[in-house]
Amino acid sequence: MSTNKDKLVIFDTTLRDGEQSPGASMTKDEKIRIARMLERMRVDVIEAGFAIASPGDFEAVQAVAEAVKDSRVCSLARAVGPDIIRAGEALKNANASRIHTFIATSPIHMKYKLQMEPEDVLRQAVEAVKTARQFTDDVEFSLEDGSRSEPEFMYRIIEAVINAGAGTINIPDTVGYGEPGEYGAMFKRVIESVPNSDKAIFSTHCHNDLGLAVANSLSAVMNGVRQVECTINGLGERAGNASLEEIVMAVRTRQDLYPVETQIDATHIVPTSRMVSSITGFPVQPNKAIVGANAFAHESGIHQDGVLKHRETYEIMRAQDVGWGHNRLVLGKHSGRAAVRARYEELGIHFEDAGEFQLIFERFKELADKKHEIFDEDLHSLVAGVEAPVE
Ligand code: KIV
Ligand code: ZN
Repeated sequence: MSTNKDKLVIFDTTLRDGEQSPGASMTKDEKIRIARMLERMRVDVIEAGFAIASPGDFEAVQAVAEAVKDSRVCSLARAVGPDIIRAGEALKNANASRIHTFIATSPIHMKYKLQMEPEDVLRQAVEAVKTARQFTDDVEFSLEDGSRSEPEFMYRIIEAVINAGAGTINIPDTVGYGEPGEYGAMFKRVIESVPNSDKAIFSTHCHNDLGLAVANSLSAVMNGVRQVECTINGLGERAGNASLEEIVMAVRTRQDLYPVETQIDATHIVPTSRMVSSITGFPVQPNKAIVGANAFAHESGIHQDGVLKHRETYEIMRAQDVGWGHNRLVLGKHSGRAAVRARYEELGIHFEDAGEFQLIFERFKELADKKHEIFDEDLHSLVAGVEAPVE
């Protein structure tokens, strides 16, 4: 890691917020398998679950805490004693643990959901942090629905929980309502206004209801945030959370812009994405950034020709750097001569005679009009002069 950049802490919540995606619940063994992959990827903090949610989730947090050695293991807990005690018990054997406690701070949540006065919320938050500190010296406090909370109230509660011992302050965009400029500016103001803000790391946690979770998270980073909470494949409540792979690769690819770097070994991203998809049964859309099957595939002739001449004409990242074997030139009706000839050469078929290749290329185009994709066996059939099967 170079010295002129701040470290960006990657907090993965696939096993907690990701699991809150309807239909994505995971068994203890599945959580352990994913946690091991996250550890290999060098994720800083793994939120393994919500220990009080069920006996199974308690056991899962406990098992992940025992299995993982190189990442910090975290459990979520509402800002109430029983939740925090349960989280503390589940994390007892962790090499490095964190309790993540939260309470809602927005007027709408305090009035209707909690039915509490702001002063009581503040008192409960402070008590929760003090209780959590009895189990671990690493306590994170989240202001749920923070992006819709009153600034002055947030400043007071943040100052108080830092004084009570919280080392990380998370201001989530719980309902995905934030807009990048506004959400980033909120962090700037908070950090400037809270007198002891230098005693804590500020964190972002964004939901994707308007498709802005990654943009909001990155805007927060530009405004002083040094921890991003995210999930593999963007799994999470409703429309999901900010996706880990997009955050990590945005920061890495635009080093010229971001004042931070992560310690993630990105070559584990694709295998981890596949594991999460197969365990949860949530397919990854083909055009998903970084981990979608088409993320490094080129079909149009112009793009294929460019990539064959110089990869960076149409690629801003290397497929291998995120765990794909290689990029892919997909042969179809938009493909040009250069890509078709290159694929034949890879298959060991060379055309000495331009006329012979022209004939094959014409047949290729005819077939491509009938099929989505032309595979190697189709190319062989074209050369052999046999009719290639259509779909
Ligand atoms: O979205 C949210 O506000 C949360 C908190 C519990 C951190 O998931
Ligand atoms: Zn969330």
